[in-house]
Amino acid sequence: MGDPTLDPHGKYNGREAEYVMQMLNRENDGDPRSWPQRFEEAFAKKLGVKYAVACNSGTSGLHMALFAAGVGPGDEVIGPALTVVMDAYAAIHLGATPVFADVDPDTFLIDPADVEKKITPKTKAIMVVSLEGLSVDMDPIMALAEKHNLIVIEDSAQTILGTYHGKQAGTMGHLGMYSFENKKHLTCGSEGGMVVSNDPELATRARKFGGIGYKHMTASAGRTHLALSTVQDPAYERFDTIGLNYRMNEISAAVGLAQLERIDEMVQRRRTVAGFFSDATSNCDWFQAQTTPDGYVNSYYTFAIKYQGAEKHGISWKDFYNQYVNAGGDGFYGACLIPYLEPALIGQTFGSVTCAKGLCPIAEDLQSRIMQFKTNYRNLQIAQGKAQILSDLIDNIGR
Ligand SMILES: Cc1ncc(COP(=O)(O)O)c(C=O)c1O
Repeated sequence: MGDPTLDPHGKYNGREAEYVMQMLNRENDGDPRSWPQRFEEAFAKKLGVKYAVACNSGTSGLHMALFAAGVGPGDEVIGPALTVVMDAYAAIHLGATPVFADVDPDTFLIDPADVEKKITPKTKAIMVVSLEGLSVDMDPIMALAEKHNLIVIEDSAQTILGTYHGKQAGTMGHLGMYSFENKKHLTCGSEGGMVVSNDPELATRARKFGGIGYKHMTASAGRTHLALSTVQDPAYERFDTIGLNYRMNEISAAVGLAQLERIDEMVQRRRTVAGFFSDATSNCDWFQAQTTPDGYVNSYYTFAIKYQGAEKHGISWKDFYNQYVNAGGDGFYGACLIPYLEPALIGQTFGSVTCAKGLCPIAEDLQSRIMQFKTNYRNLQIAQGKAQILSDLIDNIGR
């Protein structure tokens, strides 16, 4: 696959450079569509959704999705306590309250039973997050949404082509968001995102909010063909929504489209690498991998485990990290701090929520234990070597 003159293990060895050059010489390519439109159309087709709206980051996409859901001042948005801080930011920027639900200790994902407990008359939306390539348990979430008339947004930043009983993560809620930031399965070069929906009204609102509020924007991309004399008229009214400029640029879209053409292969490579790490850590009860329940397919953004070596062998998280790196392993990330414990939020009160330790004890405990082994090795031999180093280290300590 890819251009034989490019590094076979390179990140951009498909048609990325070709498409970027085509974009720069666009006068000659005969396609009237913008590159973001081409990317959106291909993405919607691949994921099996009606509408896809390209944007400049996943964070922007969360903001667009919550705006589209009608979230505003005083509303509550329930999301997991174990995630990145941007989910809460999106709610806060709209004047809403981020309400934190606890997570399942085995899948690391939002616990529908705790979501139910946190629903109040102010709840407007549930923002679930599919961490590490694993879909959220969506059936109970959608049932709760239907019962309480709530909008569900799937933050699928880390999960493309992860499935839940045959359905694509990110496409089961009313709105979904994918991130194309540099480390994600698919990247636009550095930053990018996509909001998806099957609902034309929600998709239109998302597109308008991220597109400065042009009144002629619709759920689908594409130019509005108005007579020049109409838009050149000083009396022409352009905007009907107070929005922001979150649009994806043409170069990013050209790179993203080329990456999308290879997404199956790229996800499969991550699954293969996760398999190496899964073998390396099997039969070790203090190294408990994120559970992928029956009926789910994990796309392994990382291979994540819950570490219990401190209790079992007196080796702290940090000591284990150092031992692995000193043995030749690659540094791995812990989980991001619980959002409400980050300096940006701790101590602050939003509506009924005061950000402080103790709100979600399972997530807080898990957060301190998680190890996320990278799966985006492009050279499988190197990945195998790293997994072997991990296996040897675990053997030396004792499984
Ligand atoms: C779960 C999750 N949500 C949201 C985001 C934000 O995406 P972006 O970095 O593209 O703004 C990320 C990215 O790191 C993420 O992992």
